[in-house]
Amino acid sequence: MALVSTNTWNRIRYTIYQPIYDLLLEGYFYKFRKRSIESLDIEPGASVLIIGAGTGLDLEFLSPDHHIHAIDITPAMVRKLQVRAQKLGLNVSAQTGDGQNLIFNDEEFDIVIMHLILAVIPDAKACIKEAERVLKTGGSFTIMDKFIQKEKESGLFRRLINPLSNIIATNLNRDVDEILAYTGLKKSIHLKLSSIFWLIQGTK
Ligand SMILES: C[S@@+](CC[C@H](N)C(=O)[O-])C[C@H]1O[C@@H](n2cnc3c(N)ncnc32)[C@H](O)[C@@H]1O
Repeated sequence: MALVSTNTWNRIRYTIYQPIYDLLLEGYFYKFRKRSIESLDIEPGASVLIIGAGTGLDLEFLSPDHHIHAIDITPAMVRKLQVRAQKLGLNVSAQTGDGQNLIFNDEEFDIVIMHLILAVIPDAKACIKEAERVLKTGGSFTIMDKFIQKEKESGLFRRLINPLSNIIATNLNRDVDEILAYTGLKKSIHLKLSSIFWLIQGTK
């Protein structure tokens, strides 16, 4: 189906999911987000970019001292994020944008956060290349998502349900090392958070 794995499809489905997104995803991922962001020890004054920021569930782990930018392809998600930012008293510059083609300058950010985006975005390699481009040399990135385990082939069950999962939720068969290999980013942490979720962090 030509529409699946496109920005248009993502915009359509996340516009539909937006009213129930937090209900479905807030609780389960709370600990993973906390660990991912707090372990970065982000300095006051740091510039932070969240790619595919959704409704802004990462924001509560950031502080008013941070210069936060958030982009997402779905306007309805961005609007929800803006409301959350206001409630949290955070100054967030949030806009609709494509993570595969960022509007930011080279080396603009100290931190890039990619939570639950690399398995959803049509072209994960384009996205990680863009993350690398906008990250300052010495800056840090954090990724939290579902990836296949390198040492294991994607199982038959996973391969069978992937076409359906890709339509409604996410690609189950992406390999984060293959994605990172398109960049010069240096991985320092590759940690299992649950049976399918991983935390990957490193620097440029
Ligand atoms: C599973 S949600 C994750 C949202 C958020 N990062 C989180 O952790 O809750 C995936 C998000 O990616 C966004 N998205 C999909 N394709 C995108 C693209 N090309 N550029 C930017 N955002 C995109 C969707 O609109 C959706 O909000």
